[in-house]
Amino acid sequence: MKSTANFIQMKENNENIAMVTAYDFPSAKQVQSGGVDVVLVGDSLGMTVLGYESTVSVTLEDMIHHTKAVKRGAPETFTITDMPFMTYHVNKEETMKAARKLMQEAGADAVKVEGAGDIVDRVRELTAAGVPVCAHLGLTPQSIGVMGGYKVQGKTAEAAHRLLADAKAMEQAGAFMLVLECVPHQVAESVSKTLQIPVIGIGAGAKTDGQVLVYHDLMRYGVGRTAKFVKSYADFDNQGVPAIQSYVTDVKAGVFPAAEHAFTMNEDELDQLYG
Ligand code: KIV
Ligand code: NA
Repeated sequence: MKSTANFIQMKENNENIAMVTAYDFPSAKQVQSGGVDVVLVGDSLGMTVLGYESTVSVTLEDMIHHTKAVKRGAPETFTITDMPFMTYHVNKEETMKAARKLMQEAGADAVKVEGAGDIVDRVRELTAAGVPVCAHLGLTPQSIGVMGGYKVQGKTAEAAHRLLADAKAMEQAGAFMLVLECVPHQVAESVSKTLQIPVIGIGAGAKTDGQVLVYHDLMRYGVGRTAKFVKSYADFDNQGVPAIQSYVTDVKAGVFPAAEHAFTMNEDELDQLYG
């Protein structure tokens, strides 16, 4: 399994870091077999596998449940778990308790928190306690209500300055990695060049130190319209629905199961059964 030191080394070597989300045992097995460097149990699971409108509905119990499944499927892959909405905002104690559960109970190797401001102190405290923290700036979906929609962030010079300052504060507080979501590629490049820690982009152009995609976007699995920054490498929906339709047709027509799918009792036993 890679370590936080390996990720810094990869940045120094100009080796792009590949991150994908996973939420359950089979997707985790796939991302590990596919060779990702780091897996993210994102709170995007609220939408992708639980069908909520946003990540705001996701609870700590949800994250623990899914992280356990992911660790069973990808035991050799460094796993970051999102701290869900409002589990790291109230005070230090609640934050520590939540992070302890994610690492000790669920098996996460690190946690991810969104935003800056007061969160800088939380990152410092968690790091001091031995919890590796990945920061998340730019578009921060847990703040969707405040942001007023899923929009590109850091588009003005002033906003870009603020973003860079927040990124530096996160690095100084001890974050080992930064996810940068939905920012102009020039801004993401500048943040990546300024920081020593690796910057993982999503909707942030090609000049970051790595990329992250949501599993269900990458596979086109149960997602409707995808964002501009998504590239799908498979099409589960267009393969999955016809597969289900064929199964239903076969069952209705009595074509499935065929003889090869059935179990057979030997003749002697059959004779005894029916006399
Ligand atoms: O929850 C998630 O999947 C994320 C990524 C989009 C970075 O936070
Ligand atoms: Na997230």
